[in-house]
Amino acid sequence: SGSRILIEDCLEGEELSVLVLTDGETILPLASARDHKRAYDHDRGPNTGGMGAYSPSQQFDESSLGDLIQKTVRPMVEGLAKEGTPYRGVLYAGLMLTKNGPYVLEYNCRFGDPETEVILPRMKSDLLPVMMQIAEGKLKTQTLEWHDKACITVVMASGGYPGSYQKGFPIRGLETVAAMKDAVVFHAGTSFNAKKEIVSAGGRVIAVTALGDNLRAAHDRVYQAINQIHFEGGFFRRDIGQKAIEVL
Ligand code: GLY
Repeated sequence: SGSRILIEDCLEGEELSVLVLTDGETILPLASARDHKRAYDHDRGPNTGGMGAYSPSQQFDESSLGDLIQKTVRPMVEGLAKEGTPYRGVLYAGLMLTKNGPYVLEYNCRFGDPETEVILPRMKSDLLPVMMQIAEGKLKTQTLEWHDKACITVVMASGGYPGSYQKGFPIRGLETVAAMKDAVVFHAGTSFNAKKEIVSAGGRVIAVTALGDNLRAAHDRVYQAINQIHFEGGFFRRDIGQKAIEVL
């Protein structure tokens, strides 16, 4: 300890999550998304698994996604194949778009959470046949179709998350959101109690997602929805997508 130091670049820029589907050779990009990692508004507080996301990313022109994938994801897919371990499935690259170009922060062999809660509601194509083609190693689908809508998700977390928190609080208002158009609640850390009520059972408890004709409309709807939901100690960020809306 203390005999070696590690010097890291401080990367400044905008984060972007790029998720692709691949059969080990062909790469099919999913829509872009932007996560919000910090626990509190204005990117303050500790890092979390993700407190909310929106799609498409506004800081980035989706038409340049192909180029970005060639620079970042393609070398990974080709490298894995060359080493005799071709990867089939979802590959998720966490990128930082800096003034010197894109940098890869991390790769995950899974869907992103909460990115997926804003990517899949925008998907017009049927996911299952594509997944089947990937499992069989023959990705024939050339492009995916997307709804021309924006999507935002806001995570409601247990008080204290990402530190220690209490569980078992009944969650109220879910049925009100279930009746809303273009809004959906994804359950993450929930469970039933002995009275068969839905209760909090984790750090990130639910993700409330809404679609809209544009980011502002999705933003209005998602906050209208999440404001209906309550459980003791539950909290959420009030600025998901806000910076992107300000530059619209
Ligand atoms: N959104 C961060 C993750 O899925 O790792």
